[in-house]
Amino acid sequence: MALTDFDLVLFGGGGDLSMRKLLPALFNRERCNDLPATARIICVGRHEWNREAFLKEIDDNARPHVTGSVDAPAWQRFCDKLVYVMLDAMHADSYEALAKALRPDGPDARVTRVFYLATPPSLFSHICQHLAASGLATPTSRVVLEKPLGRDLASARQINAEVGRVFEESQIFRIDHYLGKETVQNLLALRFGNVLFEPLWRREWISDVQITIAESLGVGNRIGYYDTSGALRDMLQNHLLQLLCIVAMEPPTSATPNAVRDEKLKVLRSLKRFTPQLLTQNIVRGQYRSGHVNGIAVPGYRKEPNANQNSRTETFVAIKAEIETWRWAGVPFYLRTGKRMADQLAEIVVRFKGIPHSIFAQHNSSFQPNSLIIRLQPDEGLQLNLMAKTPGDGMRLRPVELELDFRETFKMPRMDAYERLLLDVLRGQLTLFMRSDELEAAWEWVEPILDHWEQEGDDPLPYTAGTWGPAAASALIGRDGLQWREES
Ligand code: BG6
Repeated sequence: MALTDFDLVLFGGGGDLSMRKLLPALFNRERCNDLPATARIICVGRHEWNREAFLKEIDDNARPHVTGSVDAPAWQRFCDKLVYVMLDAMHADSYEALAKALRPDGPDARVTRVFYLATPPSLFSHICQHLAASGLATPTSRVVLEKPLGRDLASARQINAEVGRVFEESQIFRIDHYLGKETVQNLLALRFGNVLFEPLWRREWISDVQITIAESLGVGNRIGYYDTSGALRDMLQNHLLQLLCIVAMEPPTSATPNAVRDEKLKVLRSLKRFTPQLLTQNIVRGQYRSGHVNGIAVPGYRKEPNANQNSRTETFVAIKAEIETWRWAGVPFYLRTGKRMADQLAEIVVRFKGIPHSIFAQHNSSFQPNSLIIRLQPDEGLQLNLMAKTPGDGMRLRPVELELDFRETFKMPRMDAYERLLLDVLRGQLTLFMRSDELEAAWEWVEPILDHWEQEGDDPLPYTAGTWGPAAASALIGRDGLQWREES
């Protein structure tokens, strides 16, 4: 579907996210000729940049993040769409300058108006209020909210309430960039575009599910933000729980936003609540110490530049979760994420139960239950592990892999998650964005963990950078007679 003309206002337009992700994503769509000729991307920020200085910033900080070679005419076309407006988000007067840069918006206008708030959440409410007071937030404009969407249930509720005073729910796009990843959408295609999996997708046939997002990178220059956040707030409350929802949800009646989001919400509300015993038994948190990642020596978290030497922030978390429904009762969902781990990978592993009766038992010690691996990163693909007969005499079975490599199968240019999500915002397509009740349900589930850690006051368990996290994470899953896939 072709895009209609738009004015996209990027609050935080000179910031890290805009430079690293949003502007390169928009440029990619420009070079594919997806952006209407008169569309405008209005970056707002507090820097006193004239046009020349602004374009130099874009050239220095956004252009290096574009993948592949940058074709000069496309880059020029892109720059022609960029506008910079100096604005102090806290001051009402500043919004006059923004008003001048915008074209009319309303039911008859052909320009879609989008406000993308790539700013700290503490500014969301002020920006929305000023947009309303200055008449810039119209009933047809849209607002995009970047994470972190709160740091606990109360603050998430407050954001929802304050933004909700200005914008209707149908105008609010809460971004979780994991939902824009190709493989996540492929998981929907796999589950609901095939008959093969649905009959097996339940407790009778699935023994356990592992969801891992491991990063080999450390906190980099984001320690200021990260130290007040930690892995639970930064990754688990949003990205991992969203992946869990897509794996576990009931088939929605359609792909319309509310049909999908209703089902995801039911999953979040069916997550088993933590008792004091489960809080100590089913959760492991860790913090990296110095070590080697890919052969390179790296410092521990507390020794990162500007780090707090006594920080208790977790850089790793593993949780055993359960979903209390007929479909999933008793199936453990192991969730795990961390920084400075042995490898950079994101994957979902669905392990099926063993065969009920073996006719091959005498010959096969290497018998393995089937499993399906859905790889999000680094290479997007699916791997189905089956048993097959080894050629030759006798009946020997061994595990084999059916591989689907998306890059190989679809020899087409890839779309980055932000590209996809920005296109959805510009088209007004809400399916891949979180609704306010989903956000609150996710916080409701993780909040007891945060409270428990605070009351307990202990340090996270140390783990050496370049490993798979604290030994306790292996013990967590080992208690159930299982292993993380990379450790098996
Ligand atoms: C972000 C987190 O939401 O996701 C970062 O704030 C993390 O800490 C990033 O590094 C991971 O995203 P991706 O797409 O690189 O796996």
